Amino acid sequence: MLGLYIHIPFCKQKCYYCDFFSVKYDVVLVNKYVDALIKHASQFRNQKINSIYIGGGTPSVLSLRQLEKLLQALNNIFDLSEVCEFTFELNPESTSREKLCLLKNFGVNRLSIGLQAVEDKSLKFLGRIHDSQTFCSAYDIARKESFDNINIDLMYGLSNQTVKEWERDLKRVLLFNSEHLSLYPLSIEEGTPFYLNSVTINDNIQRDMYDKAVEVLASNGYVHYEISNWAKRGRESFHNSNYWRNFEYIGLGAGAAGYLIKIRYKNIDDIEKYIAVCSLLKGVQSRCGNVSSLEMESEYIGDELYKTEKIMLGLRLLNEGADVNCFNSLERQTVLLECLKDKTLEQNNDAIKLSKEFIFVFNQIVLKFM
Ligand SMILES: C[S@@+](CC[C@H](N)C(=O)[O-])C[C@H]1O[C@@H](n2cnc3c(N)ncnc32)[C@H](O)[C@@H]1O
Ligand code: SF4
Repeated sequence: MLGLYIHIPFCKQKCYYCDFFSVKYDVVLVNKYVDALIKHASQFRNQKINSIYIGGGTPSVLSLRQLEKLLQALNNIFDLSEVCEFTFELNPESTSREKLCLLKNFGVNRLSIGLQAVEDKSLKFLGRIHDSQTFCSAYDIARKESFDNINIDLMYGLSNQTVKEWERDLKRVLLFNSEHLSLYPLSIEEGTPFYLNSVTINDNIQRDMYDKAVEVLASNGYVHYEISNWAKRGRESFHNSNYWRNFEYIGLGAGAAGYLIKIRYKNIDDIEKYIAVCSLLKGVQSRCGNVSSLEMESEYIGDELYKTEKIMLGLRLLNEGADVNCFNSLERQTVLLECLKDKTLEQNNDAIKLSKEFIFVFNQIVLKFM
């Protein structure tokens, strides 16, 4: 069983902080892109899948007709009867009752909505095109359309934001009672308007905000199951958890990553080129057939690299951890013993887990195993 990720690299407008691969929505280009995605998906007709994630970019920017065409095709190509989680990412301004109704009818059972900030002035600062009222109505429609598994994406550590303001905003978000929360510290990415305008962030304040979130969310019944993710019990994301378990998945769409038969790959991130190559695809192929012409990067994951990745990813899952059997080389064993001694890692039967007090220095810890 595989996961299926589909990338929709279109947005109405680029946010000032974002360097994810996406371009401005254009109806003609998106029509062609949807056709290309369908051709690409057809290559995997015989694969069994158990989760789908349609992300972006902004998947909800697609028109009702484009969405319907894509979802209908997925339904025809794949047997969706064993898909237990089907997530769709929404931006508040492009959410509508009709789109949500369509998603529901095609089996989408989890939504991820990008709120990003609570105050309108912070949303403006981030270059978002929605305001808090638009988010409230999108969320309200989603609940009215009976979506009972919703994630909210939120960022913290915005310039000038204080820990007190963050705590107040987080408590406001808790009033929505979403099943899942993803919280990300604002990072300044090269080439973004924030980078070009020398916007700064403060690591120490971001750390205090993270600690505050850990405390507030624990006392409100959320399980902290991954470094940046909290969920009500049993609402942890199945699809995303499988990335962290290092399971294989199909990646469809320009710029999307995938991982199949021990090969990690990245599709061409030029939309016109992606469309052109997809138009040449024929029949059902294995990953190593025609599909490789769609890839711009691929890497074979041999046993040693697999174990290193499994450690790096597994340690992100705070309650599951990484399998102790992956720490089998002399070097990894030595580092593991050091980390157990200085208590940055803990062992629980076969699971090696990150100690809660050291989550914020996760990157420094995993670097030791690379
Ligand atoms: C690629 S975005 C797609 C989600 C959706 N398009 C939206 O805008 O809400 C995934 C998430 O990554 C986070 N993100 C993107 N750029 C970031 C940055 N520079 N710093 C922190 N978080 C970021 C945001 O929270 C965003 O919701
Ligand atoms: S944060 Fe979302 S809406 Fe904003 S540019 Fe990135 S992908 Fe597009």
